[in-house]
Amino acid sequence: MPIDNSNMLKVIEGFPQQCRTGLELPKGISVSGKIDKIVVAGMGGSAVGGDLLKLYMHSSKIPVFVVRDYRVPDFVDDKTLFFAVSYSGNTEETLAAFEDAERKKAKIVAVTSGGLLGTKAKKAVKIPAGLQPRAALGYLFFPVLGVLNNSGIVDVKNGEIKEMMDILSKTNDFKAVGERIATKIGTRIPLIYASESIGAVAYRWKTQFNENSKIAAFHHLFSEMNHNEIVGYQTMGSEKFLPVFIRDNFDNERIKKRMDITKEIISSKMEVEEVFTKGNFLLSRLFSGLHYADFASYYLALSNKVDPTPVTVIENLKKRLK
Ligand code: F6R
Repeated sequence: MPIDNSNMLKVIEGFPQQCRTGLELPKGISVSGKIDKIVVAGMGGSAVGGDLLKLYMHSSKIPVFVVRDYRVPDFVDDKTLFFAVSYSGNTEETLAAFEDAERKKAKIVAVTSGGLLGTKAKKAVKIPAGLQPRAALGYLFFPVLGVLNNSGIVDVKNGEIKEMMDILSKTNDFKAVGERIATKIGTRIPLIYASESIGAVAYRWKTQFNENSKIAAFHHLFSEMNHNEIVGYQTMGSEKFLPVFIRDNFDNERIKKRMDITKEIISSKMEVEEVFTKGNFLLSRLFSGLHYADFASYYLALSNKVDPTPVTVIENLKKRLK
């Protein structure tokens, strides 16, 4: 019996092409008028694109807020560009946030494959259906970026896209790192760390291990972990955990130093793995950093003899809430 019944491997291998299509989908879709803040509402696999956007727009004068809730903050108004992102279009928190944003007169763009959101939203980027939401990150993030680019809110350079696509298309490099990390984790719980500047990458690693490999996984960020979590290592069993540091050449020098020292401290108790982001542009570094986790979580699922695709517990929970 094959374990990967829905061919998750093929979907992961197709990620670079998915990103390219994701950039083409919002063609002709833009917003006009004054915009002084951006809110991205979504849950789970549909929300992580919002986290990535927040990092990408760190140096923009327009702040980005990510909402994983039924309601949106009171500051949402007619100068707010509101993205309602739901792969299925039927996630109740996102639908409620969408309605709240409508009441508050935000400018709304939905990103969805259909569902209720697809029916209700006046402006939407329709994305291909039939995937697990978490496996559709290219379709969920790049349409948002595309709409912002079309609206003159960000200026995505061809060079950024080219570098990212060149890096992502070296599938075998990502596979090799993914297999190495999966083997190293074995039966341990991965603890994923990165700097704040690429924090969404560490969170994506955690959730990919949760949903693809069906294991517990946790994440934390530098330098905050130096002020609390590091103390917990005093009593942590080396056989139970595998810390994985995601390193970025562009991290602040003090962060790099903190990561080096922390690695030394932890290494006296247990193994520490390191993975490096690739590229010069932030987009490449974010997407290369997270693409390793697609393969690592996939190979770990196979070695644990679980099908990486279904997330039955999430589906059942949603049914019970109906
Ligand atoms: C499943 C997954 C979940 C969903 C979440 C919200 O693959 O990633 O985290 O993304 O349950 O559902 P959607 O994305 O349909 O709004």
